[in-house]
Order: sequence, then structure tokens, then C-alpha cells
Amino acid sequence: MAKQRVLTGITTTGTPHLGNYVGAIRPSIEASRNESMDAFFFLADYHALIKCQDPALVRQSSKEIAATWLALGLDTDKALFYRQSDVPEITELTWVLCCNAAKGLMNRAHAYKAVVQANEQAGEDPDFAVTMGLFSYPVLMAADILMFNAGKIPVGRDQIQHVEMARDIAQRFNHNFADVFTLPEAVVDDNVAVLQGLDGRKMSKSYNNTIPLFQTEKQLRKSINKIKTNLLEPGEPKDADDSTVFQVWSAFASAEEIARMRSEFENGIAWGEAKKQLFELVNGELGQARERYNELMEDPGHIESVLRKGADRAREYSAPLMQKVREAVGISAVV
Ligand code: TRP
Repeated sequence: MAKQRVLTGITTTGTPHLGNYVGAIRPSIEASRNESMDAFFFLADYHALIKCQDPALVRQSSKEIAATWLALGLDTDKALFYRQSDVPEITELTWVLCCNAAKGLMNRAHAYKAVVQANEQAGEDPDFAVTMGLFSYPVLMAADILMFNAGKIPVGRDQIQHVEMARDIAQRFNHNFADVFTLPEAVVDDNVAVLQGLDGRKMSKSYNNTIPLFQTEKQLRKSINKIKTNLLEPGEPKDADDSTVFQVWSAFASAEEIARMRSEFENGIAWGEAKKQLFELVNGELGQARERYNELMEDPGHIESVLRKGADRAREYSAPLMQKVREAVGISAVV
């Protein structure tokens, strides 16, 4: 049976946190171990430039994210792991797709529309701070996907629209020129937890409520102690379903451990004790990977060589596909 090709990108802004781990990294690495999957994972560093104009930050984040995936055991002999910017055909394809993507389609992108709306509410010009990068973001993402003929695209809900746009663009290209592209489909896993952050809202860099994945043990303990709780005393029954401590616990614990903690909540476990157990659990799952992560961060040459190897393999796909695209649109030798 033909393998199912799955592809997903990670924008290189920021330091990976527990929410990224539970929601994206852990399930992706697990999926990549499945023999029937042909996995493509990449660092979307050109996407990072849309949100971040700090070169040191983009560089640091690429290194941290690469080290994170490797430390957590991604098998890069099986999965293709590369950096978007090492595959120049992706940006080349972006231009060709730009010439096929309707501006009206881009006008409807949620991320862009949100900025315009915020500008209007603030009484600003609607285009204030809107770059062509932000506006064209879905086209670059379409190129990421279509370049490798990936059928399944695991993403969070906020990205479904972008995958649908990639599908739209592919359809239009195939219709106008030649049947070059596979039509991609977004895959949203409802079983994967959306982790709550320190303040109980979704854990996200933009809310500044994250628990970094590979901080020191001491820092991890401190972060967990900062998770917001209510004022109930030890001995008073607590509502597990209304607790971030319990929610994070559930993302790391087995079914039995979840059931046990639920009854501990009913029996009035003290917040300090619940947090202590949560720390032990999370630290137990991450401890070894943290050591590998620290070693990798000290050895950027190794990270770089893994990424380069990944790019070489990726280009075995992207170069011939780009050639097909060029020929389809009439950019080729005259003889
Ligand atoms: N835009 C995605 C995000 O912010 C990252 C991304 C870039 C991506 N290119 C992709 C995801 C291609 C899936 C496929 O989460």
C-alpha cells in the first residue's frame, strides 16, 4: 500500500512550550513512527519573518525548535526534517502560485482580516502595518504543502483555512495548466489536548502564559507553582474540571492516574500537593529529553548537519517538481 504523506510546518518564532509539545510535537513524532506514514516536518523560517523582524530571535528560535524535535526522539532517517529556507524551490513556487492565487481569496484570510479589523477599530488606515508578507502568507504556506504533494496536513484549527486555500490554489493551477499538484486536506485531531496556560486561557506565546518545555528542573517547578488556582483550602473538595492543574495533569497522565487524581480532587487534595505531583509527572516525562536538548544546544554543528541532510533529501522531491511547474507555465528552454 502506498504510504500516506503527511506534512507540517513549525513557524520559528519563540521557544517551544508545553502547549506546543502536547498539541503538536508529541503527536507528530508519534505519528512519524507509524510505518504507513511518510512524514515531512520543517522549520517555517520564512514564515517567521512575517511576525518577527529580530534576526537574533529568528536564528535562536530555529535552533531551539530543531533541538527540541531531535531531543524528543524524532527519527530523521525516517521522517524528512528540514528548514524551509534550505529548499529554494519553495520560494520559487510561491511566486508562480502568487500569479495563480486570487487576491479576493487572500482578502478572506482570517489572520489578515483580524489585523485590518483591529486597524479599523483603532481608527487607523486599514493597511497600517500590513506587509505583503502577511497578505501573501497563505501562498507561501500553499507552496510548502504543494511542493511535496502532501495529502494530509495536521494542523490546529486556526490553520484549516490556510490548508483549504492551498487546495483551492492547487485546483486552479491543475485546471489552468496541468495536473501537477495533489489536493491537500487538513487533519485536525480532536483527541489532542489544547493545553491551558498559567492563567487558565489557552497556553500561547501571545498570552504570555506559557510553561517553557525545556527550562531547568527548578524553573519548571516554579512555573508549575504559578498555575492559577482558587482559594479552596486543603480538605475542601475541588472541581477537577475547572482546574488548569488537573487539565495539564490529564495531558501527561495515564487513564488510571487521571482517575486517581480526580478522586484526590474530590477528597480535597491541597493545591501545593497537586502541583508537586504534577511537577514530578511532567518532569518524569521530559527529564531525559531535557538532557539531550541541552547537549544539542551545545552542539549546533550537529543540528546543522541534520538539517542540511534533510534539505538534500527534500530537494530530491522539490527540484523535479519545480521543473514540472516551470514547464507547465512556459518557463523553460526555448530549444
Ligand atoms: N502557518 C503554520 C502555523 O503558524 C505553520 C506552517 C507553515 C505550516 N507552513 C505550513 C503548517 C505548511 C502546515 C503546512 O502554525
